[in-house]
Amino acid sequence: MCGIVGYIGQNEKASPILLDAIKKLEYRGYDSVGIATINNEKIELKKDSGKINEVDKELQLKDMEGCVGVAHVRWATHGYPNKINSHPHTNNNNKIAIVHNGIIENHEELKKELISEGYVFKSETDSETLVHLIDKFINKGLNFQNAMIETVKLIKGSYAIGAISINYPNELIAIRNESPLVVGLGDNGNFIASDVPAFLKHTNKVIFPEDNELVIMNSDNVTIKDLNGNILDKKVETIDWNEEMAQKGGYDHFMLKEINEQSVVVSDTLSGKKDIENIVSKLGNINKICFVACGTSYHGALTGKYVFESFLNISTDVIYSSEFKYFSNVLDENTLTIFVSQSGETADTLSAIKIAKNRSKTLAIVNVLGSSITREVEHVIYTKAGPEIAVAATKTYLSQLISIYLLAIYLSKNRNNEFYENMISQIEKVPTYINELMLNEDKIKEIARKYKSYSAFFFLGRGFIYPTALEGALKLKEITYIHAEGYPSGELKHGPLAIIDENVIVVVLAPSENPESFSINSYKDTINNMEEVKSRGAQVIAITSYENGERINVNDIFQIDNQVDELLSPLVYLVPLQLLSYYISIYKDLDPDKPRNLAKCVTVK
Ligand code: AGP
Repeated sequence: MCGIVGYIGQNEKASPILLDAIKKLEYRGYDSVGIATINNEKIELKKDSGKINEVDKELQLKDMEGCVGVAHVRWATHGYPNKINSHPHTNNNNKIAIVHNGIIENHEELKKELISEGYVFKSETDSETLVHLIDKFINKGLNFQNAMIETVKLIKGSYAIGAISINYPNELIAIRNESPLVVGLGDNGNFIASDVPAFLKHTNKVIFPEDNELVIMNSDNVTIKDLNGNILDKKVETIDWNEEMAQKGGYDHFMLKEINEQSVVVSDTLSGKKDIENIVSKLGNINKICFVACGTSYHGALTGKYVFESFLNISTDVIYSSEFKYFSNVLDENTLTIFVSQSGETADTLSAIKIAKNRSKTLAIVNVLGSSITREVEHVIYTKAGPEIAVAATKTYLSQLISIYLLAIYLSKNRNNEFYENMISQIEKVPTYINELMLNEDKIKEIARKYKSYSAFFFLGRGFIYPTALEGALKLKEITYIHAEGYPSGELKHGPLAIIDENVIVVVLAPSENPESFSINSYKDTINNMEEVKSRGAQVIAITSYENGERINVNDIFQIDNQVDELLSPLVYLVPLQLLSYYISIYKDLDPDKPRNLAKCVTVK
């Protein structure tokens, strides 16, 4: 959570560049925002609580002078979101400014010591400790770089830090540990940021520093050193994302743009088929799969359980990353642990990898190139969904599902080539099914308008489509704040049926059967469960690919192409659910891109 940015140029004013860059990271936090620049041998600082546009309107952030600066968007952990707690933080004589993303776990003891030495703390944040420590080491005679090195030797926790000092006006320094940091090499200056979209407008040439590598940059040069001061030879990578991909492109919200990109995303993810085949050839003997993930990625992983157990007859566990440590005893060298993460930075998932990596084979399915998770595992499948800016995951979820299907299909290829050929050709049709249903978007708008004021939703599904029901409920909760639950259709009668009445909306996912597939043909059972909620007064919305879907007697029906059977349904049914949440959020006058209390990248445990 939190986003940091830094820029150092020769002649270009830093503040408009920083403001533009930090807007691209607003998905990481929107409790407060701030910029510090070096202007006329002084630190110029503007910051406040609120979303970027509100604070900019009040403080005119882009009018700050100076060619070097750092900026921050905050998702509060320590200290209420107010002006004082906003970043950047400065030292007592305002010569140094820092921005920080992460948590300094031992900040209380460090703070006590600093206070006893005369340092005055203005904020309640853990981050302010950093700026006073740097100051303390500079006062002891160290230069800026070495003061940063000594500071990180003292702190425990996660951090990505950017720092500037008026005594070193031609230097921007940065360092990371378990929090994301990427360096951008521009033609007119250099950048640090929590994520690539921040500077894509200026450059797609990047360096990914490892933990505790010190980044020292001036306007035309970047040096990376280890903590002993040795200069490191780092690879410069070119990211194949462009600025346009990180913009709204005429849509009202990123979320709607990202939903609309999904048919293209399927094709892009499928273009990575060969890479997946290549990874499969290196995996060796596997007798157990263990998926590990959080949130939407967990729902992708849970779909993976249905896919792997059906396609491969292989025992597959799915564990929330934050619960993983309680189950890790079951891993062995023939277990493949698969971590699923859009951001590649989720702290819970990173911790799980540290437990699994010496006990099992590890593979990650990740969207963000060079992210921390990709560096911790043996094999990486990139989902190729492009940058996702809306906090609620949409297109990246679909790309995870496609990757999981492909992985299972390639693992089964040697056993059953006919099945492999058939599945690949079926998945290749998914973009067509999605495009078809997008033509019927008005029906979803009508349903959203009709049910927007209800305060309880259930999403029901059986078998392959059950995790999609969970995802439908999560999307609705995240961006509309309506209470929603996903349930296996057959499970309702074991308790939750007690709360069903005419005030509850039940969304039933009822894909058609596939007589030749592994699926257990759940349509009829699902319809029976639907009747059970109807007879208790619930209003029912059915999403179905059953060809006689119109004959189901419910309040509303959304029809999916009848070729989309149970096996394929997770790859298509998610789209109307995403649209339903999006439009309910719009009709409730909320901002679907920035749901309250959430941030896209969860780098705290
Ligand atoms: C998705 O809409 C959520 N914002 C959230 O549940 C997310 O999927 C979760 O935090 C995991 O993130 P990751 O995929 O980046 O690891």
